[in-house]
Formats: sequence, structure tokens, C-alpha cells
Amino acid sequence: MQTEVLTVDPQTPDAALIARAAEVLRRGGLVAFPTETVYGLGANALDADAVRRIFEVKGRPANNPIIVHVAEVEPARQLVADWPAAAERLAGRFWPGPLTLVLPRRDIIPDGVTAGGPTVAVRMPAHPVALALIRAAGVPVAAPSANRSTQLSPTLAEHVLHGLQGRIDLVLDGGPTSGGLESTVLDLTSPPRVLRPGLVSMTELEAILGPVGRPDVAPDVAAPLPSPGVLPRHYAPRTPLECVADGARRAKELLEAGLRVGQLALAGSSGLERSGATTVVMPAEASAYAASLYATLHALDALGLDRIVVDLPPNGEEWLAVRDRLRRASAPAR
Ligand code: TXA
Ligand code: MG
Repeated sequence: MQTEVLTVDPQTPDAALIARAAEVLRRGGLVAFPTETVYGLGANALDADAVRRIFEVKGRPANNPIIVHVAEVEPARQLVADWPAAAERLAGRFWPGPLTLVLPRRDIIPDGVTAGGPTVAVRMPAHPVALALIRAAGVPVAAPSANRSTQLSPTLAEHVLHGLQGRIDLVLDGGPTSGGLESTVLDLTSPPRVLRPGLVSMTELEAILGPVGRPDVAPDVAAPLPSPGVLPRHYAPRTPLECVADGARRAKELLEAGLRVGQLALAGSSGLERSGATTVVMPAEASAYAASLYATLHALDALGLDRIVVDLPPNGEEWLAVRDRLRRASAPAR
């Protein structure tokens, strides 16, 4: 299959190009498109065959459910069996935006989308291209991140092509995505609990909901793994990655052992000049760090290095999503 690339203006996408992409979705095809977090790989969420193709091209395990994207609140209500007051308040505050709500599903959603489970995840993305595409398609759009399973999420159309060229119908190239990390996934089927930390912080959620359950995996990148293989490797570059307190020192050690080393240093950290590794200085502010993390890892991954060493980010709440992704990126391959 030839993958077509259509370049669109990220703010005011050309209606004719959006209509072409929407037609591909309605025919059962797969279209990658930018959101404010990362690029998504979209299919008509009500078309079981199209959804099955998402799993095939990504190499995604069938037990991993997919987020359904909508362009208004009402279609989200149509997909769920219960729309609690908390959902209404959260949608009012954070939609369109990087918050995904897990709610009891309705039967119109194919089993593939929910991985056969009783819930469905819904979100309204804050990107003009995503919203225009969903509206033009006239259907809810199931979309995981547009990467092969376990690999780095794409924040540029070229990242999408790197993993999926020839496997999907179309890419809408709207330039770099601004957020850089995925949405926060919040389970509302029981007392509210974050399943995946993301661009909406615990603090922002708790301001609306009161106490919210923390994600299962303590995203402490420095702690030893409970046992090898317990943590699923995900969001990972091909180059082995490690997070350490003093990246410059570790990089120097590895260089002396003859390895080719890349380093993600924190702005302001000491010893930047002494490591001698291919060094990228990362922002000291969490959302700016998040915005450039995947693009930086994609770029270092392309250099064919032996190791990527990452300075541990700070412990603050605003770093939760970044630490979660770094921890998973550094988990050993199974
Ligand atoms: O920012 C994002 O969320 C991006 C853009 C494209 O919207 N999408 C994304 O999708 O990151 P994906 O498939 O790469 O990650 C979705 C996460 C997975 O961890 C999945 O297990 C979880 O959401 N998820 C999806 N449906 C769920 C459900 N019904 N219950 C619990 N978790 C669910
Ligand atoms: Mg993903």
C-alpha cells in the first residue's frame, strides 16, 4: 500500500484536504492526524474491520483498548452508558484537551475498541486538524498513538512514516504537535483514578474532583525494578536508555568503556561540558521538557548510539507524566 501524505495548515486546515481524509475514514481506511498531544492513527470507531486493521498495522496486543475521539461532548455521551456529573464538569473544564475519560460503554461500540471490556475511553482533542477531521467524518474516531506498539509516540508526521509508511492509507501532516506527551487517562467507573499520567496534572484534576487515585506504577525512575519484566516496556527508543542522578558522570564512564553515548541533560545541571557525549540540554520546566522529549529521543535514536543516558528529572507532581514515560522507556525489553 502507498501511504499518501497531505500537508495541512495546523490552524486552518484546507476543507478539501480534510474532506479527502474524512472520506478515507468513512471507507474503512486508516488516517494518521495530529492532536495537541501526539499524532493519532484514526479509524471509524463504529467499523469493527477498520478498528481491527489498527491492531494489525501497529502490532498492538488485542487486550489493549483504544481511545475514541469526538469533536463535541454530545457524541461522547452517545458512546457511554452513564455520563456522571464528574464527567460533565471535567469535560467543561478540560475539553477540548488532553484528558481521556474511562466510562461504562454502550453496545454500539465494537468489542475491538474496548478490548472486549465493559468500559470505553473518550476524549475531545484540542487540535484544529483533529477536530475538523472528526467533524467531516461524521463518526467517532478510534485512535491510538500512530506508532508501532511499544515504540516512541510520534510528534511529527515523519515519525509516523518511520514506523507506518506503506501500512496506512494517509497521513495529515500538520507539523509538530505542541504537547508532546499523551493525554491523562482518568477512570470514572469507580472512585476517580488516574490510569496513565499525562498532560493534565493530578493537581488540576483534584481541583475539580477532590482526591484522585494515583496511577498503579509508582513512576520513580530511579527505583530498582520490582522484578525484570514486570514493567511493560513502552514509549521506548530502540537504543537502550537509562535514567541516573548524574548523567554526565555516567556518560563519561560509558564513553571510556568504548560506547557511543547520547545524553539528555537537564538545563542547569552540573558537568555538562565534561561528559563528551552527544548531549541535548532539556528544559528545566516540566511542560517544555514534555513537549520536546519524544522528538529528542527520536533524533538520538536515529544516530545509532549504544546508549542514551538521561538525567533524572525532579520529583515534583508536574513531572509525573515525564517520569512515567522515562521509566517505561528504560524498562528492559521482554
Ligand atoms: O494523547 C493521547 O491519548 C493519544 C492521542 C492520539 O489522542 N492517544 C494515545 O492512545 O495515547 P494510546 O492507544 O497510545 O494509549 C491509550 C491508553 C492506553 O494505555 C490504553 O490502555 C488506555 O489508554 N485505554 C484505552 N481505552 C481504555 C479503557 N476502556 N479502559 C482503560 N484504559 C484504556
Ligand atoms: Mg501509544
